[in-house]
Amino acid sequence: MKAVYIEEYGNAQKLILGELERPAINADQVLIKVQGAGVNPVDWMIRDGYLKDTDYHQLPLILGWDVAGEIAELGANVTDFALNEAVFAYAPIAGQGAYAQYIAVNSQLVAAKPKSLSLLDSAAVPLAATTAYQALMKGCQLKAGDKVLIHNAAGGVGSFAVQIAKAAGAYVIATASAAKHDFVKSLGADQLIDYRSERFEACVSELDAVLAAVGGDDILARSLTVIRKGGYLVSLLDEIDESALTNVDVNYQRWWVSPDAQDLGHIAKLIDSGQIKVVIDKVFPLEQVEQAHALSESKTVTGKIVLAISDGPALQGEG
Ligand SMILES: NC(=O)c1ccc[n+]([C@@H]2O[C@H](COP(=O)([O-])OP(=O)(O)OC[C@H]3O[C@@H](n4cnc5c(N)ncnc54)[C@H](OP(=O)(O)O)[C@@H]3O)[C@@H](O)[C@H]2O)c1
Repeated sequence: MKAVYIEEYGNAQKLILGELERPAINADQVLIKVQGAGVNPVDWMIRDGYLKDTDYHQLPLILGWDVAGEIAELGANVTDFALNEAVFAYAPIAGQGAYAQYIAVNSQLVAAKPKSLSLLDSAAVPLAATTAYQALMKGCQLKAGDKVLIHNAAGGVGSFAVQIAKAAGAYVIATASAAKHDFVKSLGADQLIDYRSERFEACVSELDAVLAAVGGDDILARSLTVIRKGGYLVSLLDEIDESALTNVDVNYQRWWVSPDAQDLGHIAKLIDSGQIKVVIDKVFPLEQVEQAHALSESKTVTGKIVLAISDGPALQGEG
């Protein structure tokens, strides 16, 4: 099958477009014929070697863990999906990815794609939306009436987070550069802060929760000062200096997204009911993966990036 993979860690020039064996599935897996693979910052971080000292990966490694496509093969124990069913998933990072014509995924991590979205658009959803959903609903314990600040509301995670928080009935304050304020307002944010020209701690206080989908600039310590007693701070990137938490009554967590088909099911319902729209900055053909990584690495993405993967050869027995 056609795939984009790396044989050594490094910059985007290490990306190889070539042919690899189609993965064999075990009894609990499905084989997905990939139509779209979402691009996330973790893809190029892993390409660069972020996890090279773990035992997560073997080279050659296919990158990209967001997938939407049709089921091409069912494992012997899989009873809840049908051949050709349109599905999406965030596949475990500790495995081969979806920048390829086929990927094998445990069926328990797979969900029916949102009915109202194309497969290509569905590929933009899993990792970023699951991160936003888990960080807000589980990490921040968000409920109706809460006031939440979302740092980096214009990117992949943030664009979902604003909409998920609004759907939960929260009052949403969002940071983004001024040029992106209209976009973030269109997602439902109630109040915008230009992180380039304003100090957010001068604009808000006594918040129930803060989600930091960006790091640097002492953002976690500064966020602690705007959270009410007993409130929540969830970081997706930086780890807090533990000493900052001394004598501070805030529930802090560094959140790591985990694949979860049930969460994806909730997200699909929010999409189909019109409460979440999926915003795609750009779709690239798989062959332009270097440009897709360059855009993601520029950290200027508005919404999501997707790689479109053209049809592979038919499997034996496939029409
Ligand atoms: N822990 C986890 O499980 C997990 C899961 C997913 C993602 N993440 C991490 O979360 C971060 C966000 O991911 P993503 O996919 O949303 O990234 P992304 O789509 O690449 O984010 C791009 C956006 O970041 C904005 N931005 C850059 N610096 C900013 C700042 N200081 N304040 C506010 N906005 C800023 C840019 O807006 P402007 O053009 O306006 O600057 C741009 O729209 C990444 O670092 C990623 O690695 C962690």
